[in-house]
Amino acid sequence: MIPPSLQPLYDEIASRFAGMSKFGTTFVPGFGNPESRLVFIGEAPGEEEEKRRRPFVGPAGRNLDRLLELAGLWRDEIFLTNVVKYRPVDPRNPSKNRKPTKREMELFLPYLKRELEILSPELIVCLGSTSAEALLANRVPMSSCNGVLIHGDPWPIFVAYHPSPLNFNQPERRSEMEEAFRYLGILLSSTGTKAV
Ligand code: URA
Repeated sequence: MIPPSLQPLYDEIASRFAGMSKFGTTFVPGFGNPESRLVFIGEAPGEEEEKRRRPFVGPAGRNLDRLLELAGLWRDEIFLTNVVKYRPVDPRNPSKNRKPTKREMELFLPYLKRELEILSPELIVCLGSTSAEALLANRVPMSSCNGVLIHGDPWPIFVAYHPSPLNFNQPERRSEMEEAFRYLGILLSSTGTKAV
């Protein structure tokens, strides 16, 4: 669900970015268990997410579900959101997705931080370089950060490759992702961190 405590913030974001030609037309809020101590952050919604107004409900989401299982987690135990909450598009060809620019990430970052302050998680999981770079404030070489726990201030941040089909369909990359999620499971049980 969308926690009621986040609704005013989401209304604010939706109205600030509505109607911009570099974004799709639909605001995609975070979604998940409002009690969860774990917040997973992706990059930006894709087509399926835009249609259903929910994060990670397309191919990347299905990959994520398989990875969560390796960590001993279910989707209904976590909260999922994105750095950029509209689908970044090419204004000349709005059906085409693109990666958000650094400037767009910067525009959305203060809202992400407010979202996190409201959710107050025990652990953040950054899915891919966009969210890791946004929260760690510099370029993150994913090859050395996958499966790494960083003692960020104020939240600890666990970094993993983005579960996009591009990553998931490369056998070597996929096994690194699986290893990272298994490690996340170990980390959660060894620190006694419960999702809810
Ligand atoms: N990729 C993301 O980063 N977020 C989504 O919600 C879907 C795909």
